[in-house]
Order: sequence, then structure tokens, then C-alpha cells
Amino acid sequence: MAKLQVLPPLDTEARLAYMERVRVWNDGYATEHGRRRAVYVETFGCQQNEADSEKIAGMAQAMGYEVVSAPESADLIMVNTCAIREHAEKRALSIIGQYKHIRAKNSELIIGVCGCMVSQEHRREELKHRYPYVTFTLGTSSLHHFPRVLWDAIEQKRRFITAESEEDMTVTVAEGAPVRRESSYRAWVSVMYGCNNFCSYCIVPYVRGRERSRRMEDIVREVRELVEAGYRDITLLGQNVNSYGKVKGSAGEYDFADLVAELDKIPGDWWLRFMTSHPKDASRKLIDVMANATHVVHQFHLPMQSGNDRVLKAMNRHYDMAKYRDTVAYMREKMPDVVLTSDIIVGFPGESEEEFADTLRALEDIRFDMLYSFIYSPRKGTPAAEWEQVPDATKSERFARLLDVQNRIAAERNAAAVGQTVRVLCDGESKGDAAVYSGRTAGNKIVFFAGEPSMVGRFVDVTVERTEPFALWGRVV
Ligand code: SAH
Ligand code: SF4
Ligand code: F3S
Repeated sequence: MAKLQVLPPLDTEARLAYMERVRVWNDGYATEHGRRRAVYVETFGCQQNEADSEKIAGMAQAMGYEVVSAPESADLIMVNTCAIREHAEKRALSIIGQYKHIRAKNSELIIGVCGCMVSQEHRREELKHRYPYVTFTLGTSSLHHFPRVLWDAIEQKRRFITAESEEDMTVTVAEGAPVRRESSYRAWVSVMYGCNNFCSYCIVPYVRGRERSRRMEDIVREVRELVEAGYRDITLLGQNVNSYGKVKGSAGEYDFADLVAELDKIPGDWWLRFMTSHPKDASRKLIDVMANATHVVHQFHLPMQSGNDRVLKAMNRHYDMAKYRDTVAYMREKMPDVVLTSDIIVGFPGESEEEFADTLRALEDIRFDMLYSFIYSPRKGTPAAEWEQVPDATKSERFARLLDVQNRIAAERNAAAVGQTVRVLCDGESKGDAAVYSGRTAGNKIVFFAGEPSMVGRFVDVTVERTEPFALWGRVV
């Protein structure tokens, strides 16, 4: 088993030196022009990418850039891409296409493309040849090289569209990048990188590399500092958090449940949650820790993907529905108030009508609070992309039926909350209506209520008055 290489990222001479060079270059510009160079970061994809974007912005800021919210005024644009479905890649490529016009007006503009999409060779080739104004690419496992790649691009006036090193993809955990967090009370904390599961439909293991875990002491320190700085809602991130620490020579002699138990000791008024858990190794030990914890919320995202055993096997998921149901039953026994959510893929290659009906039946008897459902999208390089596909019309028709069933179930489950008083972390004015505030419950359900600015980032108690499939409405007690 490969030994983990933990890099103390920015304290090594070389890396600091690159950051310093960019900063001096930017300071010179600021003195001369009376304004700082600006960076704009565009983010697609999952929470991992959002967390990575906060590191990119943090590093850029440390290198003297001002972070701005519009690409038109930027001198450096970073596009953090996702490759999970074709649609995600199309959107990223279309945005990059639009930046051509900004580049046409500013020949000094540097455009970096990072995230999961650029870890695929065919996408790098596409960027190299069809997007000549893209300056460099940076894979998710190589974010710590950002200062060097940026400086080389500036100094050598060259493009760097290259693959990541084997080492970065397999054994490197870079600690200590400066993070520019979007929120002052909700925070992401990555606990592990990569994925070893190779579900037959999924691109993630190919683009995010092998599983490797951060050291427990690094995570505990980060979470403690966040809580002390007033963060109220902290989400531990990993593609399969239950594998945390399991790679030998990696994190150490402890597993995810041990990590959660350790973090739960940090005093303060705060919530701890995590995602994502793979059903094959969501352990009873973890559920016991959650049930007895002070800060860990009773929320569980447990992607089922399909309700049919043959399909689950073809997906290479390594659990069957008996195991899945058993985990859910144990969870609900230990935490009757648990909010359970899941992911479903509709139209996986070879999925028959009867097999799809098994998924609908599973939704009916498990009754998730919320579902993220996806139409299967073939990903180049994954086994399932080569198999016989379900016709698009069938996929869409099944998808619509699935939504019908789930919307009814979600409506029924939310309706049960009417009359209850729930604790809500307030996010502020809701989109579209400044008089209506929104927030999230411990179970991560969205709640609307009449609020005021002083509530933002604080816990409020709300009595639920009415509900919809995707939200609760209430009054602050
Ligand atoms: N690591 C997590 C999932 C990360 S991807 C887990 O294993 O649960 C988030 C979701 O995207 C997956 O759960 C799956 O439902 C969906 N997904 C992944 N690849 C897909 C594909 N090729 N087509 C459609 N949906 C996909
Ligand atoms: Fe993809 Fe499966 Fe890994 Fe999740 S566990 S990221 S679905 S390969
Ligand atoms: Fe997308 Fe990569 Fe996340 S493919 S879903 S950004 S892990």
C-alpha cells in the first residue's frame, strides 16, 4: 500500500516563493494603477468543488488579487468544472466559450480551468485546440500547484495544459492552503479526497484519483478554529466519508466514526454534518456515535441509486436492498427523527421496466425526505457507457414518474412537521422576497419565515405553519 505523502503545502520554500512572486507582481500593478488585479472564480458541481473554489480564491487573495463577483472586470478567471454528467461539462464549456469575448477586450486576461473535467485527456485536448485563450488547467489533486502554474504562465507567457502527476493523484494530501470562505457561519471541511469505488457509471474515481485521508489532528484543528470563529454549521466532505482512514498508511488507526466522535467533543453551539456516505460501509458504529452525539445532526444522505439488486450489482455498488433497508431500519431505530435523503439514477443501461418499478416500490416503503434524482448520462471511459443504453424517451418518462412519487412522499413527510417548533440556522433574505427570510433545520430542510437582519447566521426557533414538498413555512417563536 502506498504511503501517504502529507505536504505542509505553503510553507515549503518553493511554493511560498511562487506565491510571493505573484504577489510582488500584483503589488507593483496596484501601486501603478491604483487598483488591484481581480480574480473571478466560477464554480460548477458538488460541495467538494465549492470547497476547492474557496481554496482557489484564498490562494489568489494571498497572491494579491482582489476577489470579484463578475468575470468582465477580472484579470484572472478560474473556472472550476464538474464532469459528473454531460450537461455539467456542456455548461462549463459554454461559459468558457463566452469568456472569449472578455479575452478579446483584454489580451492580458489569464483563464485557468480546473476541476474534474480537466482530469480527462479528451477534454484537455479539446481545451488545447478549440479554446486557444485558455491559459492553463489544474486538476483537483493538484490545486496546491496553483501559484507555480500561474507564475510560470505569467512569466513564460505560455500555456500549461497538462495532466496531473501520478503522485498527486494517488498519495498527496496538501495541507494549509489559505481558504476564503463564502459564509461566516457555514463551512465545508474536506476530510478525504478521491474515490476507490469505481461504480460502473461514475467518472469521479478517474478524475479525483485514489482515496486518501487527511490526518485527524489537521481536521480537528480546522474544525476547532472554525467553531471558535463563530461557525455554526460544519459539513465534513468526502466522496465516501465512511472510507475515512481506511487506506493503510493513510490517516492512522482510526475510522470515520472515531473522527466524528472526536470532533463532537469540541464545545460550543454548533452543528456537525457530513456527506457522502456509501451504503456498503455506513457502519452501525457511526450511527451509534451520531445517536449519542451533542453536535452531530440527525441527517443522513445515503445514495441508494436503484431499488433493484441486479441493477445495483451492475452498478458495482457492493450492497443489496436487504443491506440498504437494514441500515435504514437501524438508523431510524436509533434516531427516530433522522432526515434521510438519497440519490437515484434513472435509466441505467439495461434497466428494465420491472427493475425501475422496484426503485419506485423502494421509495414508497423507505420514504425519503428528499431525493436527488438523475437521468443516467454515459461518461466516456466508464464501463456502463459501453453497455446497451435505455432510450432517451424511456429515461425521461421514468424520471417524470419518479418525481411524481417522490413529490407526494416529500409533501407527506413535511406535512407531519406542522405545529412543531424547529431550530433553524438563519441565512437571511430569501431570493425574490426581502421580507421573507430563509434558513435550514438540523436536517437541512429549508424554512421560510418573517425575519430580521440580526438573525442572520444565528439559530432561531420557528413554529411550522404550513409545508410544501421542498420547504417549510413558519413563524419565529
Ligand atoms: N460519492 C457519492 C456520489 C457522488 S456523485 C456516492 O457514491 O454516493 C453524486 C451523484 O451523481 C451520485 O450519487 C449519482 O446518483 C449521480 N451520478 C454519478 N454519475 C452519474 C452518471 N453518469 N449519470 C447520472 N448520474 C450520475
Ligand atoms: Fe462515484 Fe461511486 Fe465513488 Fe460515489 S462511490 S464518487 S458514485 S464511484
Ligand atoms: Fe462533479 Fe467532480 Fe463533484 S465530477 S459532482 S465536481 S466530484
